[in-house]
Amino acid sequence: MKSALSERFQRLYGRAPAVLAQAPGRIEFIGNHTDYNGGPVLGAAIDRGVTVALAPRDDGRRRFASEQRPEVATVEAEAPLAPVTGSASWVNYPLGVLAAFAAYGLRLPAGFDYLADSDLPVGAGLSSSAAIELASALAFAHLTGERLTRDTLVLIGRHAENHFVGVPCGILDQGVSGFGRKDHLVFIDCRGPVFGTVTLPAGVHFWIFNTHTRHALVDGLYAERHRECMDAARALGVAQLAEASPSHVADRASHLSIKLQRRARHVVDEIIRVEATLAALRAGDISTVGALLTASHRSSQSLFENSTVELDFLVDALVASPHVHGARLTGGGFGGAVMALTSEAFDDAGAARVADAYTQRFGRPPDILHTQTGDGASLLSP
Ligand code: GLA
Repeated sequence: MKSALSERFQRLYGRAPAVLAQAPGRIEFIGNHTDYNGGPVLGAAIDRGVTVALAPRDDGRRRFASEQRPEVATVEAEAPLAPVTGSASWVNYPLGVLAAFAAYGLRLPAGFDYLADSDLPVGAGLSSSAAIELASALAFAHLTGERLTRDTLVLIGRHAENHFVGVPCGILDQGVSGFGRKDHLVFIDCRGPVFGTVTLPAGVHFWIFNTHTRHALVDGLYAERHRECMDAARALGVAQLAEASPSHVADRASHLSIKLQRRARHVVDEIIRVEATLAALRAGDISTVGALLTASHRSSQSLFENSTVELDFLVDALVASPHVHGARLTGGGFGGAVMALTSEAFDDAGAARVADAYTQRFGRPPDILHTQTGDGASLLSP
C-alpha cells in the first residue's frame, strides 16, 4: 500500500510526499463499553489500517483527498478549524487532529497536501476512524518537528473524536491502534489510562464476520448508552461504574430503573470478565478465554442491548462450529461485525458453512476476514 500510495500522491499533487505514516484498525477482544466507565479492556491491532501521505505547501492551503474519496477538498489554514458537512465530512478526522494539536499546545502544519488510503472494511467496527486519526497525527507531527510520546498520540486521537467529530468514545480504539504489537493483545486500564501488552497464546486465530448492517441511529445509540451509564453511576453513588461491584449494584437496585440496572450489571460483570480473561490468558487456558468472550456477547444481547439479530445469529452459528473457542460482537454494537477466536483447525470451509447459513437466513453473505494481529501506529519512510 505504501509505495503505491506515494505514486498516487505524485500523480494527484505532482510531487512526492515528504512523509508517510500508518496506523492499524483494531479488534475489541473483550471489555464491551467498559472504557468510558473507567474499566479495563483488551484489544488487538490488526494487520490492516490507514496510511497517510503528506507534503507541506507554502500557500496556506490544506488539501485533502483519499483513495476512497478522491475529489480534493481544500481548507484554508487561515480559516478557523470547524467541522465540515456533506460528502467531504471524512476530513473532520484529520481536521479534528489539527484542533487537538492546538488544544495540546503543539505546532500545527500550515499548508499541506494530504492523501489517505485504507484497507479496512467500511462499517465493520474495526475503527478506521482511530486509524486515520493516529496516522494523520504522526504525519502532522513529523512536518512540524513535534515529537509525540505514544500516550500523547493516543490522547490526541481521542480528543479529535470527542471534541471535533463529536463521538463520546473511550480510549480503546486509539489506545489499541497506538500501542498494538504483533502477536499481542493491548491491555488498557482506562482509569490512567495505562497501556500494556499481553502475549497472545500461539495457534489462535481471529476471524471477522462483517454483517454490513449498521443501525441508522448508531451514533445516537452509542451516546445514549454512554448517558445511561453515567446516570447509573450517579444513582449508585459512584463517580464511574468501574467503582461499583455486582453486589453494590444488587444492593442499590431499587435506586435504578430496570433499564439502568441492566446497563450497570453489564458493565460491572464485563469488568470482572476482562480480569478473568487476563488470568486465563496468563494460565494458557484458552477454552476459558473463549467462554468469557461468548459470555460477553450474551451480556450485550440481554443486558446492554447493543446486539442485533444478525450478530446473534453469527455468534450462535460460530460457537456451534468445531474449533471455535468463542465469539462476540466487536466494538460499539448495533451492527458491525462479530469476531471469533479459533484454533488453527478452523478453516475457509468452516467459515463458509457459517456464511452460507447466514446468507440463507438474511439473503446476503457476510464479509469474512481471517486476520492477524499487527503493530501499532508508525512513521514509514516515503
Ligand atoms: C466503540 C468506541 C470505544 C468503545 C467501544 C465499546 O468502539 O469507540 O471507545 O467504547 O465502542 O466497547
